[in-house]
Amino acid sequence: MKKLVFIILLVLLQGSVSNAQQLSPRTIIDFNNDWKFFLGDTAIAKEPGYNDNSWRTLNLPHDWSIEGEFSEKHPGTPNQAALPTGIGWYRKTFTLPATAKDRNVFIEFDGVYRNSEVWINGHYLGKRPNGYISFSYDITPWCDSGAAQQVIAVKVDNSAQPSSRWYTGSGIYRNVRLVVANKIAIDQWGTFITTPNISKHVAIVRVQATINNTNGNIGQGSLYTYIYDAAGTLVSKGYSSLNGAPGWPSGKSTYTYSTAINAPKLWSVETPYLYKAVTRVMVNGKVVDEYVTPFGIRYFNFDVQQGFSLNGKQLKILGVCMHHDLGALGAAVNVRAMERQLQLLKEMGCNAIRTAHNPPAPEFLDLCDKMGFLVMDEAFDMWRKKKNKFDYNVDFEQWHKQDLEDQIRRDRNHPSVFIWSIGNEIREQFDSTGIPITKELVNIVKQLDTTRPVTSALTETDTTKNFIYQANALDLMGMNYNQQLYPEFLQRYPGKKFLATETMSALASRGHYDMPSDSIRFWPLKGQKFVEKGNPDFTVSAYDHVAAYWGSTHEQTWKIIKQYEFLSGLFVWSGFDFLGEPVPYPWPARSSYYGIIDLAGFPKDAYYMYQSEWSSKPVLHLFPHWNWTPGKEVDVWAYYNNADEVELFLNNRSLGVKRKQPLDIHVQWRVKYEPGTLKALARKNGQIVSVKMTNTAGEPARLELVPDRKILHADGKDLSFVTIRIVDKNGNLVPDAANNLTVEISGEGVLAGMDNGYPASLESFKVPSHKAYNGLCLAIIQSKQKAGPIRVTFHAPGLPSGTILLQSQ
Ligand code: GAL
Repeated sequence: MKKLVFIILLVLLQGSVSNAQQLSPRTIIDFNNDWKFFLGDTAIAKEPGYNDNSWRTLNLPHDWSIEGEFSEKHPGTPNQAALPTGIGWYRKTFTLPATAKDRNVFIEFDGVYRNSEVWINGHYLGKRPNGYISFSYDITPWCDSGAAQQVIAVKVDNSAQPSSRWYTGSGIYRNVRLVVANKIAIDQWGTFITTPNISKHVAIVRVQATINNTNGNIGQGSLYTYIYDAAGTLVSKGYSSLNGAPGWPSGKSTYTYSTAINAPKLWSVETPYLYKAVTRVMVNGKVVDEYVTPFGIRYFNFDVQQGFSLNGKQLKILGVCMHHDLGALGAAVNVRAMERQLQLLKEMGCNAIRTAHNPPAPEFLDLCDKMGFLVMDEAFDMWRKKKNKFDYNVDFEQWHKQDLEDQIRRDRNHPSVFIWSIGNEIREQFDSTGIPITKELVNIVKQLDTTRPVTSALTETDTTKNFIYQANALDLMGMNYNQQLYPEFLQRYPGKKFLATETMSALASRGHYDMPSDSIRFWPLKGQKFVEKGNPDFTVSAYDHVAAYWGSTHEQTWKIIKQYEFLSGLFVWSGFDFLGEPVPYPWPARSSYYGIIDLAGFPKDAYYMYQSEWSSKPVLHLFPHWNWTPGKEVDVWAYYNNADEVELFLNNRSLGVKRKQPLDIHVQWRVKYEPGTLKALARKNGQIVSVKMTNTAGEPARLELVPDRKILHADGKDLSFVTIRIVDKNGNLVPDAANNLTVEISGEGVLAGMDNGYPASLESFKVPSHKAYNGLCLAIIQSKQKAGPIRVTFHAPGLPSGTILLQSQ
């Protein structure tokens, strides 16, 4: 009998699914293509009749700063990558889709940097100063019906500088879409799905849905939420009647109802299992809206003594901080480029990201959900007190409430998001104005989400002087740097839960090595105890022995964090090099040296340190390169795991066996250089488990081309990242090769950017020619919207050209 009821229920559920699909009550339209762009200010461009024929046609997302030339004179300064900012206008002429008849039409922007103002058909829709926030406008009342042409105009004003401590990009740099929905529909970010009770047998799923009724009197209404597992099987269904609820029938009203999933599959960093909730609004027997919310089921806890646990299992948070730029692509959102960054970090063993110091693109969080990263989602880098004259301090007063609410509402269904941060190194921590603002911001978050802890990344460790701490409103004590205090954290801050929200600020240029490697150096150049003069070519040694004076080397802080259970984890500054903040060098340095991975996406040596410590992959990484002046004393380092010892050989002569002592992170030899082959053997229980060799390289002889993918989607967005290795005749990487490369592309692809990871290069990212740096260069090839072969040829004077074939389909 039970079985029969179940089958009938299933049939009923599936019946309404196909019914809903036929009606397609909500249309989401990609609105990125065919915009007109003008770099400069022209106020009349908001008028619908303005003639924009002479403007450039482009597809969004678009960042005009990255297209510019580097110059010391740009008002953004090298801290913002020495690229241009200014004012730009975008316009798009379009007709409404047929589905728009008698419906509401919204335009959604995921982010516009900065001070966007939007007009539809000459009518002013509004302004959003915050460049990292998502927002939308209802354009229905100002659109002409039928086949009439509509004109959207967007002014972007990023002219007041300096406005940031890092590169922001300029323009409509995230996705834009049109949403066509019925007069009765779920609001933007109108669902909130939580899982308040989770056991092995069942998870309770609580759905909160906000309906916007702009239709007046509507009759009988109900809400259904269908839950599908990752295979697309319907596993549960929740229901609420709309009638009789307060607010109904007109305006916005929120409904809450619960359902259950049997034997739930949990989301974790190893198995990021996702469910999908499809919420339908039914009125008088018809589906009037359908809204999809991916979500995950997981629980976690921060414990004073035991640190962090996910789904009941202790887990060290092994995180990195990430700014939003994508290297040579600038700030313009590209899903494949973000995915590549996350893949590299995942391979390293990283399990968490801090979005420094602003809300990320929504697709970034989608990727974290799918790939298994925890995310600390950060709101602000400043409140009322500025860090730069024209930063968010000028907008905080008027906008912080709305911006923070919009961030929480947009991001609170992502299983990856596990911490809200209300600010990074906020100046108000130093005086009593910090108390009321902290309380207010925490309260704003808690009104919308009580399932995640709130933190703020603090630097003032003396609690009597830290007023954000004194507000006593944070769930987690986020500490930036100050690693020497971590071991005594429990005594210093009794009852507080620890998280190292930012650590290290170690510095390195990929492939550059200064001896001796055991002299630890701290920047900046002047006034510090450890003074380092710097190199004339703006390089920093890549042995892990250079750091900003407020931070540490990678090893120093990691050794502390790994030792104590109560230290729940850390976020390393930073995962990748990013544009701007070129500490320790002045111009022409224009991007950072902090990354574990360089700006082009090439790992520095520290990457393998983390991989050997954070992942279970077998690692044996030997460095530096083997091209030195004969007789020079060279430090040879190896990172390894899953082995007892490493033996080093030079030209087949043993230089001795080394074993890491407890707490050692690497082993090291000092070797008098002679050309030839350096070889490391790792042994476990006396058996060789891995071998690494580095040969002295000869002159550059050819180009080795390594695309990360050969097949691209013909969607005009997909990318192939092609690494160009300058090798000698035997295939050894030439470690100081700086050959000039030019690229020619034919077929269905274009060049999206070139880079070599050198932070002081002033070559434009967008021209088809670039030098290699320490043997490597990167070309990013983008598909067009048409399928077909893509032929990519690289030329370097004096070397044979190299060609690869890609396929867009
Ligand atoms: C921190 C700051 C980061 C970055 C870093 C560089 O104090 O939060 O944004 O500036 O220093 O070391």
